[in-house]
Amino acid sequence: MPERTLKILMMASEAAPFVKEGGLADVAGALSAALSVMGHDVRLVLPLYYQIDPIRYRLKARKETLSVPMGGIGTLEASIMEGKLPGTQVPVYFIENEYFFGRPGGLYSTSDGDGYMDNDNRFTFFSRAAIELSRALRFKPDCVHVNDWHTAAVPVFLNTAYKDDPIFSKTASLLTIHNMQHQGEFYEGLMDVLGIGWEHFNYLELEREGKTNLLKGGIYHSTLINTVSASYAGEILTPEFGADLDGVLMDRAADLYGVLNGVDYEHWNPETDSLIAANYSIDNLAGKALCKADLQRIFGLPQRRPDVPVIGLVTRLVKQKGIDILAEAIYGILELDVQIVLLGTGEVWAHFFFGDIPNHYKDKLGCYIGYDNTLAHKIEAGSDFFLMPSRFEPCGLNQMYSMRYGTLPIVRAIGGLNDTVENLNEQAGDIGTGFKFYDLTADALENTVKWAVYTYYNRKDLMENLIQRAMSKRFTWADAAKQYENLYLRAIEKKT
Ligand code: ADP
Ligand code: GLC
Repeated sequence: MPERTLKILMMASEAAPFVKEGGLADVAGALSAALSVMGHDVRLVLPLYYQIDPIRYRLKARKETLSVPMGGIGTLEASIMEGKLPGTQVPVYFIENEYFFGRPGGLYSTSDGDGYMDNDNRFTFFSRAAIELSRALRFKPDCVHVNDWHTAAVPVFLNTAYKDDPIFSKTASLLTIHNMQHQGEFYEGLMDVLGIGWEHFNYLELEREGKTNLLKGGIYHSTLINTVSASYAGEILTPEFGADLDGVLMDRAADLYGVLNGVDYEHWNPETDSLIAANYSIDNLAGKALCKADLQRIFGLPQRRPDVPVIGLVTRLVKQKGIDILAEAIYGILELDVQIVLLGTGEVWAHFFFGDIPNHYKDKLGCYIGYDNTLAHKIEAGSDFFLMPSRFEPCGLNQMYSMRYGTLPIVRAIGGLNDTVENLNEQAGDIGTGFKFYDLTADALENTVKWAVYTYYNRKDLMENLIQRAMSKRFTWADAAKQYENLYLRAIEKKT
């Protein structure tokens, strides 16, 4: 048990296993579980999206109905469903509002990729409903932990509309920034929906270039702030990565921390993974060859003797992930004796561009446009290398998964990628866990892939060594949760 049991209200716009579009979901689910294992009283709040199956997760309706003030829109109602985070004792409360969350499509956009026009109202509603839920349950959090712009309005509300509410008189807040690019910036009239008074629409708090910016408000009002790697915490203080809020973050630099995400090794472990063709371990890699053959079969790629290196990618096909640079470099890479498998979904041009390559290189590149967790596991297990040419990467999870599966990451040396992957360095004797490049150029990417492929064909000894080192690396949620516990305690102290 910890020295002090903390009451933590965790709020996120997605959490695995209930609903997931990106790494935020993995973090919200796994961190809540790890905090609970430490003995903390953590409760998770999520929107009840259409995509969540209440029967599968045995959700039960609670009797309370929440009245959620939405400023000029009036007061809207929310029902509450309750369940447990699978495999844990963590209560999960789902905020139900058919109009806002009962949509097929994606969580934030239609199936055509257009953001919902009312995302401002949807997540303002969710944020305020989560606070009202805490009041209805008479749950006095020591710290509310909010994530990204979707819940960044919560610390703003706590410092304004709820500042005299005795339930929250001692409540500190922590804002985790998973991505600076998405800020929840909307028209100025959102101030009327927030209903906290226009005096908060100023250059320090919520206003940015005449618009209402929820992430900016969260940065100003949270007790403490963190990002998901130490490098990214430094990078966002610069114009290149700060997405126009670097100045605002500089003002709060003393309260800004970096906590590296962990990996959920229950789900991402080649020794026990039930989604892959054969299990394997650091001591016996025989199963990995079967996983590779299975992957080649799935993508219709030839299973060659002697072997050919397979490079895997599982990614949102968006600019953040450097897919435009990949598009520039791909034909050069395809000149090499390699195979590539790509799983992803995102920008429409990328669906066409990458989706068309197998028509010309069917023996070299396999592509599946879509979202498929089983295939993601098969790619991790069956590839020799895993490519992440990100433009920026707050943490990144796939490079850590890859290492556990003995699949060597080839990454750009930024953010969490830089913090988790050690570059191959033969001279230093410290031989590394993967391959890194620095410049965001097609040349740098192509040359680094060439380096990895050369190593594969010509330096079996080095490859074995790299694989052993990569597979023995651990990035645990227990470590990350300990650091979050320290941040909560620091925030609570700062608040009192
Ligand atoms: P981000 O959150 O920026 O997309 P992360 O690396 O933190 O990046 O997390 C991405 C997560 O989403 C990983 O668990 C990855 O396996 C998963 N993922 C991304 N795209 C797909 C896809 N098309 N199919 C299955 N899983 C995917
Ligand atoms: C964001 C980032 C990614 C990070 C994830 C979880 O989606 O893009 O780098 O791993 O959040 O923190």
